[in-house]
Amino acid sequence: MKKLNVGLVGAGFMGKAHSIGYSDMPKYFWPAPAVPVLKTICDIVPEIAADAKERFGFEKCCTDWRDIVNDPEIDVVSICTPNNVHAEIAIAALNAGKHVLCEKPIASTLEDAKAMAEAAKKAAQRGKRANCSAMLRSITSSV
Ligand SMILES: NC(=O)c1ccc[n+]([C@@H]2O[C@H](COP(=O)([O-])OP(=O)(O)OC[C@H]3O[C@@H](n4cnc5c(N)ncnc54)[C@H](O)[C@@H]3O)[C@@H](O)[C@H]2O)c1
Repeated sequence: MKKLNVGLVGAGFMGKAHSIGYSDMPKYFWPAPAVPVLKTICDIVPEIAADAKERFGFEKCCTDWRDIVNDPEIDVVSICTPNNVHAEIAIAALNAGKHVLCEKPIASTLEDAKAMAEAAKKAAQRGKRANCSAMLRSITSSV
């Protein structure tokens, strides 16, 4: 069965929700078109990152989201950080060829939101999906 390696940025409340969603998705949507693998979780607070790795069942943790975006093993980047850092991470991840699932609201400025939409359009031409707070199934069903 196809696997999708997940990198998750921001291990707070919604990081927990996304982690549960990835783990549980195949129990609801079976046969799953792809099974998520919890590879790397990132938080700028090292203790939160390390705790989340153990608690949510990720293989690795880090404190710099660029380690996820630059990891060729990662297929999907979940962005669960505060709103003001969504754009930087999402655009870098899309440009690096990742699928992106970003928490809402999409960004904290209209300018950032437009830049993200532009990066998503270009990524779509390369077969990459970008969703703001949409269901994981929409990514896994497209690969
Ligand atoms: N809490 C909710 O009910 C809820 C509902 C819908 C959407 N959201 C959205 O989810 C996102 C996250 O909200 P939350 O409630 O999980 O916040 P939170 O404060 O619980 O978690 C955010 C985490 O991101 C980490 N972080 C901050 N900057 C970072 C960076 N540059 N790199 C890596 N980690 C970083 C923080 O240390 C923190 O652990 C926000 O966009 C919010 O609007 C939240």
